[in-house]
Amino acid sequence: MSTTTDRAPSGIPGLDEMIGGGFPRGRVILLLGEPGAGKTIFASQFLVSGAKTGNERGLFVCLEEARVHLYREMRLFGWDFTRLENQGIISFIDATPLRLLPEKVKVGDVAIDRKDFSMLSLTQAISREVSRLKPSRITVDSITSLMLQYPDMVQRRAAIFDLVGALVTTGATCLVTSELKSVGLRRNLEMEEFLAHGVIVLQSLRVGGSFTRMLQIEKMRETACDTQPRPYRITEKGIEVYPGETVFR
Ligand SMILES: Nc1ncnc2c1ncn2[C@@H]1O[C@H](COP(=O)(O)OP(=O)(O)OP(=O)(O)O)[C@@H](O)[C@H]1O
Ligand SMILES: [Mg+2]
Repeated sequence: MSTTTDRAPSGIPGLDEMIGGGFPRGRVILLLGEPGAGKTIFASQFLVSGAKTGNERGLFVCLEEARVHLYREMRLFGWDFTRLENQGIISFIDATPLRLLPEKVKVGDVAIDRKDFSMLSLTQAISREVSRLKPSRITVDSITSLMLQYPDMVQRRAAIFDLVGALVTTGATCLVTSELKSVGLRRNLEMEEFLAHGVIVLQSLRVGGSFTRMLQIEKMRETACDTQPRPYRITEKGIEVYPGETVFR
């Protein structure tokens, strides 16, 4: 499988051969997965490998956990975010305070809805850091709680549109993670999946008598990809996919 599009190697062993050599550069890829599926590890591996092999700067936008926790967890895989940050290669935006906002945010006499305020603050913080760092890779981990603020589908679509739009204007290759709400091979699709340029799903399925972790490329624009579910493992080196193996026999 090959295409002429410029590619950003994913840093996940086994994955690039399923997607024509890497993610199409400048695109927004959605990584969906169950809790504990390895979304944060995947996102970190993408940034660290870009920094190590391509000298690519990366921005980590974290909405779920504090910097200190993330850095400690990732050190177990040998990824030293503190050093990379000190070297100016990786930068971190702690967006967790957005979760603590009141329902209405008062700015002078004007009351702004929490969801509007949080989306605006997030996209502005990203754009400010992008101007400074000029990263070629960005990860946003995860948008689950942000999206829960939009039960209304029209508003949700607009919010995803805003976020994807803000990420596309950075020119970086972006990986956005989100929790998988329904599992199985015939699950309901979420709005995010229609609006992202690429979608990768991580889930754990019962095959025979045991559970198997499987990765599936749902879509990848500009790419002839392997859409079969393939097994993956999380080891002390991070995530690895086995494109030569099948999940179902
Ligand atoms: N050294 C290791 N070897 C094997 N598996 C590991 C190792 N360290 C962590 N894991 C696995 O990684 C999983 C956590 O990965 P990660 O935090 O990336 O998941 P996540 O999808 O981001 O979860 P959440 O939805 O809670 O944010 C754990 O479920 C654990 O099984
Ligand atoms: Mg996580």
